[in-house]
Amino acid sequence: MQDSDTSAMSWDDWDETNDPRPEATEFDRVVEASLSRRGFLSGLVAIGSGAAALGTGLLSSTSAQAQGAGRFAFKPIPISTDATVHVPEGYNWQSMISWGDPLFSDAEAFDPENGVTLASSDRVFGENTDGMELFVVGNHQVIAVNHEYANTKTNLPKTHADGKAGSADDAQLLRNLQGVAVIEVTEGEDGWGVVVDSPFNRRITHDTVINITGPAAGSDLLKTVSDATGVTARGTMNNCGAGRTPWGTYLTCEENFNGYFGSTDEALERTPEQVRYGVNLKGRYGYENFDERFDISKDPNEPNTQGWVVEIDPANPDSVPNKRTALGRFKHENAACAIAPDGRVVVYMGDDERGEFLYKFVSDGVYVPGGDTSSLLDNGTLYVAKFLENGSGQWLALTPETTGMAQDELLVFARVAASKVGATTMDRPEWVAVSPNEIAAYCALTNNKNRGIKANAGGDETPVGGVNPRAENKYGQIVRWYPANENHADLAFTWDLYVMAGNPEKHDDIYAGSRNVTAGNMFNSPDGMMIDSTGLIWIQTDGDYKNEGDFEGMGNNQMLAGDPATGEINRFLTGPFGCEVTGLCWSADKRTMFVGIQHPAAGFPGEGLPRSTIVAIKRDDNARVG
Ligand code: FEO
Ligand code: CA
Ligand code: CA
Repeated sequence: MQDSDTSAMSWDDWDETNDPRPEATEFDRVVEASLSRRGFLSGLVAIGSGAAALGTGLLSSTSAQAQGAGRFAFKPIPISTDATVHVPEGYNWQSMISWGDPLFSDAEAFDPENGVTLASSDRVFGENTDGMELFVVGNHQVIAVNHEYANTKTNLPKTHADGKAGSADDAQLLRNLQGVAVIEVTEGEDGWGVVVDSPFNRRITHDTVINITGPAAGSDLLKTVSDATGVTARGTMNNCGAGRTPWGTYLTCEENFNGYFGSTDEALERTPEQVRYGVNLKGRYGYENFDERFDISKDPNEPNTQGWVVEIDPANPDSVPNKRTALGRFKHENAACAIAPDGRVVVYMGDDERGEFLYKFVSDGVYVPGGDTSSLLDNGTLYVAKFLENGSGQWLALTPETTGMAQDELLVFARVAASKVGATTMDRPEWVAVSPNEIAAYCALTNNKNRGIKANAGGDETPVGGVNPRAENKYGQIVRWYPANENHADLAFTWDLYVMAGNPEKHDDIYAGSRNVTAGNMFNSPDGMMIDSTGLIWIQTDGDYKNEGDFEGMGNNQMLAGDPATGEINRFLTGPFGCEVTGLCWSADKRTMFVGIQHPAAGFPGEGLPRSTIVAIKRDDNARVG
């Protein structure tokens, strides 16, 4: 990678290049870290100073692993290092839709050498498929799916090797290929495919007009050059994970939005909040060179209109999406909904950056099937998680009283508010999954090489211990919590670790992972996560795929299935080299599983430019798969 080419960096590394975090080497952190290791090695699983973090995963026997017995209807597969998808014996997969496939008949067919033209770029399937959900609308099956970001080199294969757009047209093409797609899909004799020209088909891009709703709508902080009243935004950006509401709408989550903004004034002094959110003078894509909207020296509040959860009605292609400000602004991963016993709506949300926080929203109103749901996500309270070392935890309310910030300010700058109340800095919260079968939720903490080493972007320390038990955490873990009184709206909970990823072939300390990690199922960097209707937890990875050093034996990124009761985890799918496996949903009859393959290397799904693709997976006997 050349110095000028930032396109291949992780988002966190890119942020830290611009805003280096201070090193922290306090002696007590080192002591804490060693205590954690001893606790783990003793077999008593006393993580930190407490002893309550007894996940079933940590206690489970390894002897039954990798047999494919019991809960698992498949024989686990080995790692792969090649350029294709592998699934277990008795299953098959096909490509359903790839970057550049037309959604409308007036779009040009994909060109394997040159990619997509500007003219067709908002009429085709976008790049980098990520979170998705399937909705049944009458007798139609409609998938809403995110297009997280654009690989500049792939989309502009003949130009601009530095990863930046070289012209206004380049920038527009990239903007059109990101955002969200809503597509009708159907299963025919040749398998699954998109219904071209379906009235449900829709692209929502970086330029689609979106309403801003909830307590921060109309705030001075959201007034921009394009809307001096602060009640609309242009576009949705860096759409990562997703969620679905009980009333059948799609939640798309804006993650690393900061990278799209820059400044043509190189002497501009950034605000502390811009620094906290990683909004920099040099944008990752160079958009600011072609459109003042992306230039914070000209339109300083424009980045404040990004970083939200956006609700989209997939059944109504003419509906205007809504940015729900009550859910807070940060680098949203996904949005996992639960219903409290009294009918209030709970939305769990991770902020994916090293040392940032885990949040939940609890609505004031209650969900009544068939009732008015139009403002349920506009009124309520935002909370942030504090995990104690003794295995308990609390949700801390973010209000004007607890933070000293105005209501609009604490939502627009939720990170700042959460720092004020002393939330737990986490190892990069990725997807949250809510169990349909028990009152429990899980969050993938993907990795954090700064744990115990550096503060977060707000200066909050990242001590080793408790829910984040390993210094320089390169493998990640999955935390699970049980809300008090079996009520997702309750402010107390208990927690344990479902799994700590690791490499038992390379390490014999805490970096070997928990006992449900073996040579036969090891992985790193859990990210996407869903629990199916049978209660199996599906874990997708976005980690180091070089299969060497600390990651030897893990191969390409993959998808595994875990049994919440026993902790057993088995590998179900391996992706092509270079990819991240992200996004998962099921057909209405649960006989097909749709899995996202994001940013594969050359060779997938075939010759020519590599293409992000949704694959459809079935059993050969057409039995259910989830
Ligand atoms: Fe877009 Fe945190 O993954
Ligand atoms: Ca992710
Ligand atoms: Ca990730």
